Amino acid sequence: MPTERGTKVVTARFGNEDARTIAGYEKSGGYQALRKALGMRPEDIVNEVKASNLRGRGGAGFHTGVKWTFVPKDATDVHLVCNCDESEPGTCKDRELVYWDPHLLIEGMIIAAFALKARVNYIYIRGEMMREVEVLRRAVEEAYQRGYLGDSVLGTGFACHLTVHRGAGAYICGEETALLNSLEGERGQPRLKPPFPAVKGLFGNPTIVNNVETLMNVPFIVQNGGKWFSDLGVGRSGGTRVVCVSGHVQRPGVYELPMGITFREIIDEVCGGALPGRTVKAVIPGGSSMPPLDADELDVPCEFDALQTDERIKVVQVRPGQDFDMGGGRKLRTMAGSGGIVVADDSTDIPMFVWRIMKFYAHESCGQCTPCREGVAWMEKVAKRVAYKKGHPGDLDLLGSIAHGIAGNTICALGEAAAWPMMGFLTKFRADFEARMAQSTVVAGAGGGRAA
Ligand SMILES: Cc1cc2nc3c(=O)[nH]c(=O)nc-3n(C[C@H](O)[C@H](O)[C@H](O)COP(=O)(O)O)c2cc1C
Ligand code: SF4
Repeated sequence: MPTERGTKVVTARFGNEDARTIAGYEKSGGYQALRKALGMRPEDIVNEVKASNLRGRGGAGFHTGVKWTFVPKDATDVHLVCNCDESEPGTCKDRELVYWDPHLLIEGMIIAAFALKARVNYIYIRGEMMREVEVLRRAVEEAYQRGYLGDSVLGTGFACHLTVHRGAGAYICGEETALLNSLEGERGQPRLKPPFPAVKGLFGNPTIVNNVETLMNVPFIVQNGGKWFSDLGVGRSGGTRVVCVSGHVQRPGVYELPMGITFREIIDEVCGGALPGRTVKAVIPGGSSMPPLDADELDVPCEFDALQTDERIKVVQVRPGQDFDMGGGRKLRTMAGSGGIVVADDSTDIPMFVWRIMKFYAHESCGQCTPCREGVAWMEKVAKRVAYKKGHPGDLDLLGSIAHGIAGNTICALGEAAAWPMMGFLTKFRADFEARMAQSTVVAGAGGGRAA
């Protein structure tokens, strides 16, 4: 397989209707990696995945092989759960991946399950994805019929079962511990960590939760080796990157791209540039929970580490002059997140855009912890009045201060998902907010106040 720029890995079968059937998938090389994996020792598979520098594509970019080693060595009832909840605004890659290549996900899951010694496994899929639910259910049935799933996979004695479970359409159920609660039939609310799912997860058993794209890369790592996969990427980020580009570009879509490609190249070369007569103003790099990039920051690669550390990206500030400290002296720039790239051009009303983002997170908060339940709703309320020219004196500092009070003080990362974009937009597009505040019809001392 070539490793030059532009290699397609997980999207190679896009457009091939035949590959959705098990016969078509096998014809195009499918399930060969599984046959190879079943001849390997589980720990050797884990080591290849570690060497591959595969990083989780669900949002945090955690090293997959390392995560797999967190399962206790002597564990017997281990589960593997595929996270196909995909609800982050701007993100729509997993849906396409599952639709075009369901058997690649199933093959990746069986290999991962073999490596983890996981016998009872699940795909948790967002409830609204009816078309993909059907595609997956049919594919799972076919895999059982062919002996790839069942009490003895291909006669090896390894039992591997897989169930497709539909969620009910709550964004929070994409958070891995809320997902596990939902799968258990409980309310989909995040759990306190630790214990982490790898130690105590589904039904109290060690559980690995991985994203669709993450698991789909596993067969290629087994087939071609961890080094091949690592070399395909950049630095400590192996493989390619599937991104979904939406917003103000000529050719929005789901694209599999080299890890080192820059945002400018994505917009100009892959997506045909900005709309006629327009220029790019802001880019959300990986789902709406990530701080944005401004027009001066587009020459940064869309790679996990670069987005966190590249000094060409400004540090997010809580309020002017005060950097956001992520702990351990680390400053927040931005993150690669879920691959949902949203491009906003100079026609965009930034305060309105930010209010819309806040409205989403306020609606999706599960309400379990106070800083998120109260804080995100408060940010939404203040952001709305700012956007509608009804801002009160001090509202921009108030927004920064509420966001600061949320981040790091909640049970799950939905708090940060709302706080970080607020801080990021306030840092980089403050002039837009100040211009809107200058249009406010609320007069100082006439009912406007910090507590309102
Ligand atoms: C509020 C919230 C929503 C999330 N939604 C998703 C999602 O829809 N899909 C996903 O794969 N990960 C999502 N995640 C991340 C998961 O918690 C988890 O880290 C991920 O599934 C692990 O897989 P990976 O290591 O392969 O990335 C979400 C996290 C948070 C905090
Ligand atoms: S941060 Fe928000 S979504 Fe997460 S547990 Fe707390 S209230 Fe629920």
